[in-house]
Amino acid sequence: MSTLRIPFQDLPLQTRTLRPELDPAIDAVLQHGQFILGPEVAAFEQAWAAFCGAPHTIGVGSGTDALQLILRALGIGLGDEVITVANSFIATAEAISYTGARPVLVDCELDTYLIDPGAVAAAITPRTRAIIPVHLYGQPANMDALRPLAQRHGLALIEDAAQAHGATLADGRPCGTLGIAAGFSFYPGQNLGAFGDGGAVTTDDDPLARQLRLLRNWGSVVKYHHEVKGYNSRLDTLQAAILGVKLRHLATWNVCRHRAAEWYREELAGCAGLVLPGTAPWTGRHVYHLFVVRLLEHNRETVMRALAASGVQAIVHYPVPIHLQPAYADLGLRPGAFPCSEQAARSIVSLPMYPEITRTQVAEVARALRAALHATTR
Ligand SMILES: Cc1ncc(COP(=O)(O)O)c(C=O)c1O
Repeated sequence: MSTLRIPFQDLPLQTRTLRPELDPAIDAVLQHGQFILGPEVAAFEQAWAAFCGAPHTIGVGSGTDALQLILRALGIGLGDEVITVANSFIATAEAISYTGARPVLVDCELDTYLIDPGAVAAAITPRTRAIIPVHLYGQPANMDALRPLAQRHGLALIEDAAQAHGATLADGRPCGTLGIAAGFSFYPGQNLGAFGDGGAVTTDDDPLARQLRLLRNWGSVVKYHHEVKGYNSRLDTLQAAILGVKLRHLATWNVCRHRAAEWYREELAGCAGLVLPGTAPWTGRHVYHLFVVRLLEHNRETVMRALAASGVQAIVHYPVPIHLQPAYADLGLRPGAFPCSEQAARSIVSLPMYPEITRTQVAEVARALRAALHATTR
């Protein structure tokens, strides 16, 4: 086994490069000492709203909280159903569960790994209150197919935009503006990542924005006066300061990710047994939070071991769909319930992807992957 040569992502490299900008921003917070809801939070909220083209941003403690608080602010809870997709990170479903509502999972489409609008239509019941499509891997879900469904049935359309900072539809509309509200995660590994947990909600709905500001802060706008039972889920001032610095680079980083994806496509073109990420016709800008390939016949574990032996770190997002997690055994869903999600979970591999990855590194990953596939029996 060789020592790691091409990591899956390289946050230390990015942080080293940004230190001259980050240090004074962090120092300013240490100097003024307003660690909760300090001026950097409002400044970042404004900057994030401008980046997304959304009238309001509310900084919260995490992407999971962003989704949970949106649902709470909409009054969704016990007895309600919320539809989402089986091949997301478990947080999407858990945010629903925390409210007391029931997550109703549906399958994805195999060519894009995005929620299947036909399956959503089939899952709507009189108890359904909302749909949470996930812009998985950095590509927008098929919002123009979901919107009429939501409108027809009076459902809230809520974006899980945790992985889609800066992604757009083909007509230019950005993720974060495509439903009643969107939840973003600033988990360190996201395209825009904090130095810890962080999240945000974007919305164009004024009353909803006000409700979210209450909910994230114990139901309070005026200190020690509590209008509703809320939560302790503010975006930390320090994280907001860090995010504010990093946000200046996000557009460039997304371009770099896109370029790396093109390099992968060139290097892996025609590789037998390998499916490259599909780009949906409705997608304008895919921000390649992840570059996910699928193996058609090869044994994934053997391929990943061979990659690791060549010094390439690959990861699987995600190896077990939500309905087959022990945590969701109560949904009573068995293997076979969602064939596309299950097939993807068995055969996908996320290759190294980060803005700083070089053409040489991408070529090296591709060479290692081709060699691994060649050496592995089908
Ligand atoms: C699709 C998706 N939804 C929700 C979340 C939850 O975000 P957080 O980790 O900030 O709570 C994540 C986190 O990675 C995610 O990938």
